[in-house]
Amino acid sequence: MNILRRGRLSIQPDEDIMNFTSSLDADKRIFEADIEVDRAHVVMLKEQGIINAKDCSAILCGLGKIQNEGIASLDTSYEDVHIALEARLIELAGEDTGGRMHSGRSRNDEVATCIRLTLRRELITLMEETHDLVSALLASAGKHHETIMPGYTHTQHAQPTTLAHHLLAHANALLRDIERIKGAYDRTNRNPLGAAAFASTGFPIDRERTTELLGFDSALLNSMDAVSTRDFMIESISCFANIMTDLSRMAEELILWSSSEFGFIELDDRYSSTSSIMPQKKNPDIAELLRAKTGTVHGALMSVLTICKALPYSYNRDLQEATPHLWRAIDAVRASTRMAQGMVSTMKLKKETMRLASDTGFMTATELADTIVRATGIPFRTAHHIVGSIAKTGKTPTLSALNGISLKILGEKLSDRGLSEKAVKEALDPMLNIKKRTVSGGPAPVETKRQIAVIKKKLVESGNEINLIHKKINKAKEKLARVCGQYS
Ligand code: ARG
Repeated sequence: MNILRRGRLSIQPDEDIMNFTSSLDADKRIFEADIEVDRAHVVMLKEQGIINAKDCSAILCGLGKIQNEGIASLDTSYEDVHIALEARLIELAGEDTGGRMHSGRSRNDEVATCIRLTLRRELITLMEETHDLVSALLASAGKHHETIMPGYTHTQHAQPTTLAHHLLAHANALLRDIERIKGAYDRTNRNPLGAAAFASTGFPIDRERTTELLGFDSALLNSMDAVSTRDFMIESISCFANIMTDLSRMAEELILWSSSEFGFIELDDRYSSTSSIMPQKKNPDIAELLRAKTGTVHGALMSVLTICKALPYSYNRDLQEATPHLWRAIDAVRASTRMAQGMVSTMKLKKETMRLASDTGFMTATELADTIVRATGIPFRTAHHIVGSIAKTGKTPTLSALNGISLKILGEKLSDRGLSEKAVKEALDPMLNIKKRTVSGGPAPVETKRQIAVIKKKLVESGNEINLIHKKINKAKEKLARVCGQYS
């Protein structure tokens, strides 16, 4: 007999309806968390005198058995893990004991608690995996402070830069992603348990105790909010969407750079596929799939936003439909982060091709215009006009060619206003261009070295934060295990 439906409902839904309704498949993700939540709740019930010591011990014993059996042993005719687990407990411990576990709680606060516990672990791991990727970028950047490459705007050669500068740009974006995940973590790690269906309960429960036993930072203040909100989910997936956007831009560059047109890198064979017909092909499939998974994650964000939009308070079953999108998104972003780390760590960099590419496209034009301003005192806009006119002719920008154009535009030669052959030559040297850009944030080797040091320090700080989180969660875990041991 179905312990949930037996009272109010008389007809069992058919298989088609059950498939439509059940969350059991997605609930695999929260099975362990559900046992943890049950334990903390039961311990608290006993401490508050809501259940007696004997029942507490029998329930804890049953939960241990169910944990060992695993989710596969649960009756799949139930609509979710929570009720299936309770049914199994009642089977093991009898209704007079097992039937007391759900006192002072609802599946509404239970599921929200399980999702938060599971997600928080995923967020920590994602932070760690993103750390690894940033470290891989730093390791590569550290070897390429003087590796010249074209810098692009509009995918056109723009100004010379270094590979270090380019890789560090990506590292900085990812550092902000780590900060965002930490923010999402802070708002995820709050306890909804005790909210029950939405109106809390008349049982004298202790929400601070379950908050402590489950390692939450605090209890959510309002019981209706606690079961109604999935904003922590939206915030997390929105962080994932941002990360995927960042990673997809990196993947796009890896794909372009490994093409014959660029030839800047060769991806490792592990991160490549070949063609079933064209024997010569080496294709960047991993980077392409990463690019595509961005769509999966953005789609998940849009799905959850849309599911939650205009939902009346408090709990509605619609919320169940949001959860699988969260798991799909976290799986995609975590795997993509690891793939990016692997590709960055193993790719071959072709310095000579990058250097040769930097000689084309007159990328030193900006520095030439700046040099003219500094040497002659003419306004930048006028120097821009002169150098732009030279670029248009396609002529080599020698001092005499510049003089010719400035005679037309300015009515005098730049050399008469102090521009020397040597200054022109220096302005046209890509490495000197880079070395001049010592402004903070710039590509000069002294500056990219300083940037690496700054990022390393930030990584250490954020690593310390993550360690504190681990410590706190482990301490709560040990405490819960200890208390369960005492009461078993
Ligand atoms: N499986 C449900 C979910 O994921 C659990 C909560 C069910 N609550 C209810 N009132 N039907 O949302």
